[in-house]
Amino acid sequence: MVCLGNICRSPLAEGILKSKLITKDILIDSAGTGSYHIGDLPDLRSIAIAKKNGIDITNQRGRKFVVEDFDKFDVIYVMDAYNYNAVLKLARNEADKAKVDFILNKVFPNENLDVPDPYSGGDYGFKNVFNMLYEACEIIAKQID
Ligand code: 4NP
Repeated sequence: MVCLGNICRSPLAEGILKSKLITKDILIDSAGTGSYHIGDLPDLRSIAIAKKNGIDITNQRGRKFVVEDFDKFDVIYVMDAYNYNAVLKLARNEADKAKVDFILNKVFPNENLDVPDPYSGGDYGFKNVFNMLYEACEIIAKQID
């Protein structure tokens, strides 16, 4: 799960998907394409909306997406077009590129829609983002089951 800061959207996506695949031996992680929040806790507003929905994301810390992630993961879900392009820039070959998809394509196939960055907005943006990611992760979890 990849966004820009790895403190708002992708930690929610990681937490939601983990909560749905708790019995499975699957590696789920998140990262940011920016360096601003390496080592940071998720944004307090992400922590709050997750907690309200029974998910604890306080164990997560911000990290930057690295090229080795293409080897570690089968699928790389990005939150928006900016991060799609940032991840594709690091791809070494076509196989790497083929692993990258917009997470909302799970809900709206082939539309390449953005999960909006809620960082500069209020709590409503985080609720909205949570609901979008919840729907997408439900589909991902069903497909893995
Ligand atoms: P995220 O949100 O990409 O969903 O984690 C952001 C968090 C921080 C910044 C931008 C987006 N920032 O510029 O610090």
